[in-house]
Amino acid sequence: MGQKNTDMSEPFKMSHGTGALFGKVSWRSPSNIALVKYWGKREGQLPSNPSLSLTLSQAFTESTIEYEFIEALTSPEIQFAFSNAIEFSFEERISGYIKNLIFDIPFISQVRMNIQSHNTFPHSAGIASSASAFSALALCFCSIEKQLNGAVSGTMNFYQKASYLARLGSGSACRSVYGGYVVWGETVDYNDSSNLYGVPFPYDVHPLLTDMHDSILVVSSARKTVSSSAGHQLMKYHPYASARYQQVRDNMSSLIRIIQSGDMDGFVKIVENEAMSLHALMMSSSDSFILLQPATLSVIEKVKDYRRRSGIPVCFTLDAGPNIHMIYPAIYKDQVHEFIQSELVQFCEGGRVIHDFIGDGPKQLI
Ligand code: PMV
Repeated sequence: MGQKNTDMSEPFKMSHGTGALFGKVSWRSPSNIALVKYWGKREGQLPSNPSLSLTLSQAFTESTIEYEFIEALTSPEIQFAFSNAIEFSFEERISGYIKNLIFDIPFISQVRMNIQSHNTFPHSAGIASSASAFSALALCFCSIEKQLNGAVSGTMNFYQKASYLARLGSGSACRSVYGGYVVWGETVDYNDSSNLYGVPFPYDVHPLLTDMHDSILVVSSARKTVSSSAGHQLMKYHPYASARYQQVRDNMSSLIRIIQSGDMDGFVKIVENEAMSLHALMMSSSDSFILLQPATLSVIEKVKDYRRRSGIPVCFTLDAGPNIHMIYPAIYKDQVHEFIQSELVQFCEGGRVIHDFIGDGPKQLI
């Protein structure tokens, strides 16, 4: 087995010594956009309400881990580089996350790892970069466990376990391990739903809704002023919490039916209602905060106006940030892109729009 090296100021090297178990794994994992929003959590990173998302394809994280299993280690040794540079704030969060996984994947305490990660989109800007980042890492850990032990341990299958581990990093990340529509959190609408991990949408999807596009208008790529974690905590004593949880249960049931029936008017109504409710909760919590920007509101008004004028069922949703996700069926792509180009690009930072669409989920690269 390799030599223990606890001095992280020394150059970090894989020793690949005699008898050491080492390897390399790599996953590409996409971001996802919630249509029914998770907002509020309980101890253990458990959601206060169920959520339903759409997995993207172009906005993704690629993570590669070179690892070495060293029997003598008692705590994981981690080096993390983001876009080929050491990013201390990320490294700290990632190290904390990995150290907390020791209970769920004990082998991790005896692993030295060199993690390389990069995104195709700006991080910390309300485009769920933590979702793609933590799902990519969790998938890598499951692959390492599989390489070391032949299979993931416990009662969950590979993807359930990856989703479970991703959730511990960032709740919404648990939905990124599957493509298409994904449900996370117990709901009466699906018996096999779970608070512990996401599950693929269990019913048939109406043809209009199988090929959905998401054009992300980047109003600002600045780091957000209040983290999602802080926002979730504010739901604990939120005066509207119980009304919100009733609303989310109703929206969840309706949207699950709508995805099967293809009722686009119903879809637009629920998706926009969820986006506005999320930000209304932020504005009415104590302390209150606003993540929207004037340009966000201008775009929202223009999207509504365009929908009235054109009859095209395009709607907006928002994550925890000022950027707008415009959601629409693929058949309207040309018209919507033209509308964005002529009327909305002016509101985007550097004219930046990410044209994305529903994807098949993560891909193993190595
Ligand atoms: O996964 P977190 O802790 O970053 O929270 C995400 C919360 C929202 O993005 C606002 C909603 C959601 O369901 O993704």
